[in-house]
Amino acid sequence: MQEFRHAVVTGASGGIGEAFARELAARGCDLILVARGVDRLEALAEELQGRHGITADVLPADLGDPVQVEKVAARVTDAAGTLDLLVNSAGALGAIGPLFVQDAEAVRRNLALSTLPIVGLTQAALPGMIANGHGGVINVSSVMAFLPAPGGAVYSASKAFATSFSESVHGEVNWRGVHVTAVCPGSTGGTRLHRSAGHRESGRLGRLLDVGDVAREGLAAVTAGRPICVPGLDYRWRVAMSRLLPRGLVRARYYRRWGRRVPR
Ligand SMILES: NC(=O)c1ccc[n+]([C@@H]2O[C@H](COP(=O)([O-])OP(=O)(O)OC[C@H]3O[C@@H](n4cnc5c(N)ncnc54)[C@H](OP(=O)(O)O)[C@@H]3O)[C@@H](O)[C@H]2O)c1
Repeated sequence: MQEFRHAVVTGASGGIGEAFARELAARGCDLILVARGVDRLEALAEELQGRHGITADVLPADLGDPVQVEKVAARVTDAAGTLDLLVNSAGALGAIGPLFVQDAEAVRRNLALSTLPIVGLTQAALPGMIANGHGGVINVSSVMAFLPAPGGAVYSASKAFATSFSESVHGEVNWRGVHVTAVCPGSTGGTRLHRSAGHRESGRLGRLLDVGDVAREGLAAVTAGRPICVPGLDYRWRVAMSRLLPRGLVRARYYRRWGRRVPR
């Protein structure tokens, strides 16, 4: 497996991003850790440096703010000589419920967070990786990218964006030794996002994935040059069925399941 030596991980203060950081550190990869929660980032950096003898720098940023995305992009550009992996994992579920009851400003902020950093940081990372002839970008998307999701329209559409973006950019750079992968997990345990969805023992669609397994499958996929990775056999089967069945049948199933739950 290709080893990564220097990575930027967004959303590293918890959940899937933290799992990527832990897995990479255990493989000897130096890290730049990005999120808003400075205390959690500093504690993680200290732990990983002590345990694995790597260098872990903390870069606090609110990636819902385009100005702060630019600040992180500048750091990514500065690291061009050595940076060989970017993991975009920062994200939030946002409000659940039909679009017509949601706060417009909150929707705008969530849409900015789930799209602008992926584009801006990928764009900043690629020139250095191409010059070095190797590297990878992982954009953490979701199985919701493949399904109609009444009640989560903006979230699922932003994940469809992340998946389509990754697949297209992969086609631009893979022949230069650089791979871009959308990692599309189903419900993943031990994450704040999963807790905010109100589920506990199980996921919205199936069993709960383990954060470490998601990170390991994502790293294996980007190393192998696969542009889309759906971790877990049961979620892969579900996504395959949603793509094979007539769309009308898929819509009917998920409209029935989620479409009429309007909060009061
Ligand atoms: N959990 C699931 O079931 C699941 C399933 C499919 C896909 N995903 C995707 O996985 C990714 C990671 O989410 P998670 O499940 O690991 O949830 P999580 O435990 O809530 O972690 C989210 C991470 O994103 C960071 N973040 C949130 N808002 C941010 C902002 N405005 N600026 C910078 N960082 C921000 C958080 O850090 P701070 O709060 O410290 O900023 C945290 O590090 C997301 O893109 C999510 O859509 C999750």
